[in-house]
Parts: sequence; structure tokens; C-alpha cells
Amino acid sequence: MTERRESIHGSWSGRLAFVLAATGSAVGLGNIWKFPYIAGENGGGAFVLVYLACIAVIGIPIMMAEVMLGRRGRQSPINTMRSLAKEAGASPAWRWLGWAGVLAGFLILSYYSVIAGWALAYVFRAAAGTFTGATAEGIASIFEQLTGDPERLLAWHTLFMVMTMIVVARGVRGGLEQAVRWLVPALFVLLIMLDGYALASGAFDQGLEFLFTPDFSRISANGVLIAMGHAFFTLSLGMGAIMVYGSYLPERASIARSSITIALLDTLVALLAGMAIFPIVFANGLEPGSGAGLIFQTLPIAFGHMPGGALFGTLFFLLLVFAAWTSAISLIEPAVAWLVENKGMTRVCASVYAGIATWGFGLLSIFSFNAWADFKPLSFIPIFENYTIFKLLDYLTANIMLPLGGLFIALFSAWVMKRSDSVQELDMGDGAGYVVWHLLVCYVTPVAVLVVFLNVTGIVNFARLFGLGE
Ligand code: PFF
Repeated sequence: MTERRESIHGSWSGRLAFVLAATGSAVGLGNIWKFPYIAGENGGGAFVLVYLACIAVIGIPIMMAEVMLGRRGRQSPINTMRSLAKEAGASPAWRWLGWAGVLAGFLILSYYSVIAGWALAYVFRAAAGTFTGATAEGIASIFEQLTGDPERLLAWHTLFMVMTMIVVARGVRGGLEQAVRWLVPALFVLLIMLDGYALASGAFDQGLEFLFTPDFSRISANGVLIAMGHAFFTLSLGMGAIMVYGSYLPERASIARSSITIALLDTLVALLAGMAIFPIVFANGLEPGSGAGLIFQTLPIAFGHMPGGALFGTLFFLLLVFAAWTSAISLIEPAVAWLVENKGMTRVCASVYAGIATWGFGLLSIFSFNAWADFKPLSFIPIFENYTIFKLLDYLTANIMLPLGGLFIALFSAWVMKRSDSVQELDMGDGAGYVVWHLLVCYVTPVAVLVVFLNVTGIVNFARLFGLGE
């Protein structure tokens, strides 16, 4: 049996703290801002079904694999991959998987923070009563004024990055754990309140029908890739965030139970958010496919007309900021852990460096909404015709980098790591549970990811083979 390693960064106080932290990472803008708008753009029900299937057969097994690798390696993803590869007698090149994750986290956080900045701005707008009685045009112009002004976006982005770096600098127990202990439960309470409003608002049935009645003619091969990419994005998989959280996990906690709990909670939040948002969209005659501004352009109309709307609106956007905050800290944690391990920096110093770099790169996304709104670098490729730098960054990270990261995590856990090591680390015996997991990471996940990639790139048109839409 191999000697157990210790993490130099400390550890969670227990399994519950880990589940809360990982749920905090998983539940974020992805559930509340992104899921509704991409479901809206890709036709609703069928998209939701593909997304749910991906969570079950790809997401949960990969989450278990990531937590397992993290807990065994007990270091930043780069060093974890290097140590585990050595332990298995494989090439040290596996550490590049860690590097790819650090890069993905950096790119994601650079735009994630800009959107979180919108949510921060909306907390203040809602509290000030700006939405009260406003028309749809009025709300649209509030959104355009915000996104059209790079200086304002920069101010909110800066504030959000500072908030993130403060928590990260405080470390595993003092910072991350304290923050999520309060924020995650608060978020559930607020969402359930919003669903209560949506239920009373008139178009609940229509909202549910849109979300849950699959119509496969409305989803394209690219839509399937977006649904799969979103399963990775929403569960924070494929880039080492969950791996690094796993490295702070105490010895005896069950990885399978934790992973299933996290995935269920995350899915619940996305569905609760969708069930709150679409009824409001339909009750007000709004457009479900209106893009990244969906919740910012639609919900304030509802908040502007409901009794107590200023209060509910403020709470809703606060919730969004909280959710984004607990995800942002996990996006940068792999980089910070590596700087501490390999460059001998203190956590504070590492957070400042990583934070400043990410903040600077965020300018590209800020300008995508105003000064460079017409700059579409890949417009010669049909699916990217209308993609600004922000949209390209989102597409590249969520739909390409995370699934590829996940694919290699699955390959490593299934084909490189010794079976006896994964049996020992997952700690659920060598029975049916382990065999199902092993089968999924050995074959199902890699094949599913490859099929979707090959299909989208047009190399093999599986969609046509199965008689689905283009
Ligand atoms: N899961 C987060 C969300 O849904 O908003 C985003 C995210 C966090 C993606 C951490 C990837 C990650 F590593």
C-alpha cells in the first residue's frame, strides 16, 4: 500500500464542508445565468434532456474520478498529475493535463468575473428601485447602458475580482470553508422563494412545458456539444477545480456519495432557476432565446411589477453574486495552489499575482460588449459567425477545453492508474458500484465525448445517422 500524502494547504473540517465547498463551486452563474439562456437558445426540452443525460453518465463518474485523483495526489492538479503518473509508471507529460486546467480556469474566470460584475451592479439597481414600474424597453436600456460602458463594467469586474482574491488569500479553512458554509444554504432559500413567485405569476405551465417537453427537431449537433459542455461547466469538471478541492478532503469521506450529492444539488438549482425564469419570461411575452442578457433583461421586468419587487430583486441578484463568488474561488484555486507549492509564495502573494493576471485578461471580455462588439475574429467559420471574443472564450473553454480535460481525466483513471489504487481510493469495495464506475470511465465517457466532437466537426455525422436535426 502506498504511503498516504498530506496536503500542505490544510484540509476541510469534514465531508460536509467538502460537499458544501464543491456544491458552492458547481452552483454558480452556470446554473442561474447560463443554463436558462443556452436552454432558451437551443430549443428547451430536448437540450435539457441531453444535459441531464450527460450529468448522469459523464458528469458523475468524472467527478468521482477527479475527487479521487485529487485526494490521492494531495497537491495542485499539476503536481498531483505528475506524482500520480510517476506512481503508475506513466509519462510525466500527464502534468500537462494540470496545466491545461490552470489555463482553462484562468480563461473562464476572466469572463466569469465580468458577468458576476453585472450581477453586482444589478444588486444596487434593484435595491435603489430602478426597476420599479419600468417597461421592457426601459429595462433593456438599463442593460445596454451598463454593458455599453466599459468603465462601469471595469469597476464592477474589479470589485468582484478583489472579493474573490480576498477569500482565496485566506486559505482553505479560514476563507473557502467559512464563505460556503453560509452562502450555499442561503442560495437555496432564495431560489425556492422565487419559484413561489413564478408559480403564482400565471405562466408556470408554459414555462415547464418549454423546459421539459423534448422536441428533438429543435436541437442541432452543435446544441448537443453545448449541452455536454455545459454538463462539465456546471459541475466544475475537466479543469482541476474539483480535483484541488478533493485534495483537501479528509481520508474517510465517501467519494461516490459526495459526488452524487453535489451533482443532484447542482441539477436541482439549475432546474429551480429555469422553473423560476421561464414562467416569468412567458408571462411577460419575452423571448426565451434572447442570449446572454436573458435574466438581466427579463427578470427585472417581473421585479418591477410584483409587490415587494425591489426586495426580491435585490435578494435575487445577491444570490447570483454569492453563487458566482463561491465558484470563482474554485476557478483560481488550482493556480494559487501551484504558485504556493512551486514558487514558494504565501497564499496572499499567490492570490494577488493570479488575480491581477486574470483581471487584466478580463478586459477582452469587457470590450466584447461595447468597443469591440463588432469584432468577430472567427466569422469565416459558419458557427462562429456572430461570436465576439467573449463568446469565443466561453465556447472554447466550456465546450472544448473542459470536455477534453474530462476525457483525459477519465482515460488516466481508467487506463493508467492501477486498478488496485482506484479501488483503494474510492473505498467502495470491488463490487457492482465500482464496476459500473469503471465501465463508465473506461468506455462510455471517452466514447461519448469523442462522438460529440466528431459529430460537430463534421467528420462523422452521427446526428444524421440517428435521424436527428442538423
Ligand atoms: N460550475 C460553475 C458554474 O456553474 O457557474 C462554473 C465553474 C466553476 C466552471 C469552476 C468550472 C470550474 F472549474
